[in-house]
Amino acid sequence: MIRWKTKAVAAAALLLLGVGGMAAGEKGPQPAQPSWRVPLGDVGRGGALAAPCLACHGAEPAAAEGLPQVPPKIHRQRQSYLFLAMREYREGVRKNEIMEPFAEGLSDQDMRDLAAYFAQGFPDRPPEAKTASPGYAVTNRECGLCHGETGVGELEGMPVLTGQDPAYLAHALRAYRSGERSDPTMRRVAQAIPPDQDEAVAAFYGTHVWLEHGK
Ligand code: HEC
Ligand code: HEC
Repeated sequence: MIRWKTKAVAAAALLLLGVGGMAAGEKGPQPAQPSWRVPLGDVGRGGALAAPCLACHGAEPAAAEGLPQVPPKIHRQRQSYLFLAMREYREGVRKNEIMEPFAEGLSDQDMRDLAAYFAQGFPDRPPEAKTASPGYAVTNRECGLCHGETGVGELEGMPVLTGQDPAYLAHALRAYRSGERSDPTMRRVAQAIPPDQDEAVAAFYGTHVWLEHGK
């Protein structure tokens, strides 16, 4: 029953993403992309727009010392997810007092270009799963359906978890559980994880290599 519900939710999510992708029909420089759902963007323009982001999302996130939370790694994150996340901050769907001011003035095209810039170097294949990790048993249950066995997944719109800062991942799970992040699927998923397992789940994804803090 739980499986069935999850599949229905995943199908609904895909449908939504498909609709969003169609609305994003674009002109401008278009690098070859595998899917029409991916919001295309201009890497060069994105790089210029990214300057203010690098204080927190650059090579040395320590520059962001004093922030109440660790900035997530966003280099090599999936392009479509970056776009959706920025839009959620701008629309106030995802509430965060640090990120909202940076998303506020951005147009959809700015976000596509920033997403294209940060997504550069998205690797070809996921790493091998570290099945001996204590988090594996918890994640293996249903996360893989959407996020893939090691947290990469194949669905557009899904965040890559692989290589993310464990502190950020644990923070994200708590934010879904408390309702601070409103995604209904992840809220249900996070509520099903015993809170004392958050760190193990975060460590499982965090110890694989993929996402980066920048170069
Ligand atoms: C002052 C530090 C800071 C700056 C500058 C900043 N960010 Fe962030 N960013 C954060 C923090 C902290 C979070 C995590 C917030 C949360 O938990 O929702 C975040 C989250 C994000 C996310 C969501 C990542 C995920 O995995 O869900 C994206 C995308 C993002 N930032 C893009 C940008 C872009 C693009 C810029 C520049 C226009 C920018 N950020 C500037 C601190 C910053
Ligand atoms: C039905 C699909 C689905 C399943 C199953 C699922 N997720 Fe997610 N997950 C998502 C989506 C969609 C998002 C992005 C939601 C948003 O915009 O906040 C997400 C986001 C996340 C994030 C935040 C990432 C970031 O960069 O902010 C974490 C952490 C996460 N999931 C962990 C898990 C874990 C652990 C499991 C299994 C116990 C799991 N998810 C199962 C669809 C799923």
